[in-house]
Parts: sequence; structure tokens; C-alpha cells
Amino acid sequence: MLSDAYGRTVTNIRISLTHACNLNCIYCHAEGEQHPEDELPAGQIAEILRVARDFGFRSVKFTGGEPLMRDDLEEIVASVPEGMEASLTTNGTLLAGRARALKEAGLGRVNISLDTLDPERYARIAGRPLLGDALAGIEAALDAGLVPVKLNMVVLSGINDDEIETFIDFVRDRHDLVLQLIELMDFRDCPHHADVKGIEDRIAAIADRVETRRMHHRKKYHVRGAEVEVVRPLHNTEFCAYCNRLRLTSDGWLKPCLLRTDNHVDIRGLHGAALEEAFREAVRRREPYFA
Ligand code: 5AD
Repeated sequence: MLSDAYGRTVTNIRISLTHACNLNCIYCHAEGEQHPEDELPAGQIAEILRVARDFGFRSVKFTGGEPLMRDDLEEIVASVPEGMEASLTTNGTLLAGRARALKEAGLGRVNISLDTLDPERYARIAGRPLLGDALAGIEAALDAGLVPVKLNMVVLSGINDDEIETFIDFVRDRHDLVLQLIELMDFRDCPHHADVKGIEDRIAAIADRVETRRMHHRKKYHVRGAEVEVVRPLHNTEFCAYCNRLRLTSDGWLKPCLLRTDNHVDIRGLHGAALEEAFREAVRRREPYFA
């Protein structure tokens, strides 16, 4: 296992497979990537995953850009070593035709970005009128058993912050659907930051039951038959204190923190012992951003 200087053991790798996306969301942080170079080929990703597994990583999340922009996503998922859980974060619009093949390749579950249930708002947020495709992707993921499907809703003040009740109704009494309310991180001067702490306090007040998750120590609230998680990374020392994640950019740099670009470790072309050493170096560079 790899632990950093702050006693945090790293057990999850979040791999951006591409910078490309078929949407253009007004708030997107693009996993903190600015001007990526070439995407890593599937073979090198497989090798990186074996190293991660050997270091005791328990899970991998594939993300983008939009990971379904890659034709070889099924092959990449199939290369995840035994004993590691694989999940995917996607906008869902390209998922319907591939959910079953991804399940067969070994994918466990998916997070699907869904900020609104209103078609016009969707087009405004995402830049393209594809709400119907995203909903079809959710249905396909549920049918294929990629569960629980977590709906990622970035709360945007003045745009979708009046839809939280609607979303709670949408996931109510469905153990295969979880709502994740996400605080906006300002990467693109998107002037819609909402007070997610206040929203969380209100949900906590009406919750029947609360669990604390290992990942980032965040809470899961059971509210009137709905499962709701709240992701509040900003100025949240607890979020950083419990971070167990390393990132890999689409062009092959290990990234110790989403919010920093000055401490990446280049692993392009590295194999064997050099690749292992690069993992150790990236973990040495981990520091809580909010301490
Ligand atoms: N702030 C918060 N979350 C974001 N995401 C993307 N950009 C931002 C941002 N600026 C989240 C969305 C998406 C996931 C890939 O990253 O929830 O589903």
C-alpha cells in the first residue's frame, strides 16, 4: 500500500481517458486538464492498472472528457485486474448502445452527470439539447445492472437549485439510483456557486438515517426513501483529510490533487520499476489542499 506524509493511504485511481467531450458544460473542470497532449494507448493504461493493483489500489474510476468518446473503452475496462472495482463517470448521452458490453467487460457501476430534468435548461448547461439521450443512458445502465447508478448533479444557483426536490423524487424508493449533489468548483468563471452546505444542513434535518462513506468521509443521507450524497470539496478540510485518490491525466501524468497543476509526475513511456517509482513520487507529492 502507498501512504503519503499525512497518513492517507491511496486506494483509488481516477483515470481521465480523453479530453474530448460531445458536450460543453458551462462549469466543467475537465478534471483539471488544460492543454493535454496525446491520449495514452489502452496497452499502457493496462500496465498502469497492474502497477496500481500491485500497490493495493482497490478501485479505478474512468472519466474524461467523456470516456465514451474512446472506441476502445470496453477493451480498457476489460484490462482492469482481478480484485479492482471499475466504475465510470459519463454524461450518459453515448451510453445506451454500449452499457451491456461495458458490463460484460467487467464494469461495476456508473456515475451519470445529470444537472436538470428540464430539456431547455439541459441545453443551456451542456451546450447541446441531449437530455433525452442522457435519460436513455440512465435507463440502459439500470437495465445492464451497472448499479447503483449515481446521478451527479452540480448545484448551480439560479439555474437548477430549485430542482433538488424533483431529483429527490426521481431517485425515491429506488435502491439502484443515488443522487449526488455536488458543490460547484469555479474553474471557468461560472458565476453560479450555490450554498451546498446550507442545502446539506437542510437535508440532514429531514434525513431518517445517515451513513458516513469511506471515500472522502462524506455522508449518505436517507431522505424519504431517497439516497442522497453531498460532495462538498471546497474549504472542506475533512474532504482533503480523507482523500484516498490519485489521478491520471489523459496524456499520462500522475496528478496528486485535482486543484493543482504544479506537481504532476510524467509517466509517459515508463515501465516496470520506473513506473512504480513514479507512483511513489506522486504519492510523496500529495498534500491536503485545504488543511
Ligand atoms: N465543479 C464541480 N463538479 C464538477 N464536475 C465537472 N466540473 C465540475 C465543477 N466545476 C463534475 C460533474 C461531472 C464530473 C465528471 O465532474 O459532476 O459529473
